Amino acid sequence: MAAGTNWLASLLLLFATPLAVEMVKRDEFKTCDQSAFCKQHRAIKEPTGYELLANSISHNGAVWTARLQNSQNTLKLNLVGLVDSTVRVQIDEPETAIRKRYVPNPALVAIPEELKFSKVVNGAQEAKILSGDKKVKVVVTYKPFLISIFNEFGELIAQVNRDGKLKVEEFRTKEEGKEYPDGFWEERFRSFTDNKPHGSSSVGVDVSFVSFKTAYGLPEHADSFALRNTVGNTDPYRLYNLDVFEYELNNPMALYVSIPYILAHRANRSVGALWFNAAETWIDTQSSVTSKGLFGKVYDKVTGGGDNVPHFDAHFISEAGLVDIFFFVGPTVKGK
Ligand SMILES: *[C@@H]1O[C@H](CO)[C@@H](O)[C@H](O)[C@H]1NC(C)=O
Repeated sequence: MAAGTNWLASLLLLFATPLAVEMVKRDEFKTCDQSAFCKQHRAIKEPTGYELLANSISHNGAVWTARLQNSQNTLKLNLVGLVDSTVRVQIDEPETAIRKRYVPNPALVAIPEELKFSKVVNGAQEAKILSGDKKVKVVVTYKPFLISIFNEFGELIAQVNRDGKLKVEEFRTKEEGKEYPDGFWEERFRSFTDNKPHGSSSVGVDVSFVSFKTAYGLPEHADSFALRNTVGNTDPYRLYNLDVFEYELNNPMALYVSIPYILAHRANRSVGALWFNAAETWIDTQSSVTSKGLFGKVYDKVTGGGDNVPHFDAHFISEAGLVDIFFFVGPTVKGK
């Protein structure tokens, strides 16, 4: 018996050894910890404290605009109503920015077709915005800043900034004697030096799919079909086109393709979100059935539910560009 076991062990070793030698050279690829912007966003534990300035709201047709502010900076929010039960959420630097941020418009097959909102009520604490086809309702809570998206059945299906992770680093001119975070103007990885002449300009925010336990997408990774819980387990999923020799299975490392699209699904309901950003992106994903969010109370108020509402959370973190999300509200993938 013992001899048999040894024989089997040797055989396994014979197969395992060459594999171990040929495996991906992990240290040639960045981890979140080795990437200053990813590390910073992932470390956010307290809400970043943005609120929407009610006196800054304006509305014209399919575009609803307002300012957001926290102790760090002021941002510009655009909500754009589009055809096919789609709404676009854009968060950018205000017009005073020293540089324009990149929007990957050439990646679109056509300019998204706008559809005027049919009803907009700007209240004292929140704004209620109804899409042109009356199938999508968006509620914007001012303080703390939160976007809630409802489908045609009045079900809350997605929220933006529920956990208060919104962070946008604006372009800057270096001031001598001022303290900046690690890797803010320059960072190194192996033999490569990355210069940032206008400073770190990363963006990130949390997106929660409410009443969804599972989500799919964010290709390409050699991992399970359903997105996993990366928080506390592994690196976030990385989107950064790479040629990886001997890639490992069940690993969130970047591969050959990057598609920043996520689809949450349950019986008879789907909601998709396109994170419209072409920069290097990391996404932490987590499925949970309690309202552990820092905005738990707001969340309970909106859903009317207790602690047992499932939600699938995705924390998007990009090196540059805008917070720019298209929500395809469904109720199914076909939109019908
Ligand atoms: C999905 O829709 C079908 C057809 O309307 C219905 O029979 C079924 O009960 C629904 N399933 C769930 C889980 O709601």
